[in-house]
Amino acid sequence: MSAADTGKDPNRRDFLYLATGTVAAVGAAATAWPFVSQMNPNAATRALASIEVDVSSIEPGQAITIKWRGKPVFIRNRTDKEVEEAKAVDLGELKDPVARNDNAPGGAPATDENRAAGDGRENWIVMIGSCTHLGCVPVGLSGDFGGWFCPCHGSHYDTAGRIRKGPAPENLHVPHFEFTSDTTILIG
Ligand code: FES
Repeated sequence: MSAADTGKDPNRRDFLYLATGTVAAVGAAATAWPFVSQMNPNAATRALASIEVDVSSIEPGQAITIKWRGKPVFIRNRTDKEVEEAKAVDLGELKDPVARNDNAPGGAPATDENRAAGDGRENWIVMIGSCTHLGCVPVGLSGDFGGWFCPCHGSHYDTAGRIRKGPAPENLHVPHFEFTSDTTILIG
């Protein structure tokens, strides 16, 4: 029997149990930290889960698409006119009355304010670029409502990314994001 098995070298013993996956056989006090450490994502994994985007070059009326967690994400700098159009919509006209915004309380109404960025940055809108019908990527700055158009089956979204016409059942989803500076958005 080796020193590790007899417990004469606790560090070596802990390592062996961890490596062979026999954690349950070891006393809880001895294994608590390494086990938790294994289960938690490390800093590198957390970094992959979020992404910082420099939006300084996106002028009003322009948009970019980035990739985050394997999905397209639309970032659009809306013009004043586009914001006004979105704000003027009667909520009773909306097919999906829910904001679908991870930054807003669950079930919040789909007002433009609840769809766009806050803190005086209502011109910015950030959304997962996946049509809520069957997942095609809608085309920006197009469609009957000047927002996005999904050519797969003809879904039209307005300038707040809300479904207005066609088979898609829900507004484009807004992921968790925040401005970390005037020109940088952290998504995730
Ligand atoms: S996937 Fe967009 S309309 Fe069907």
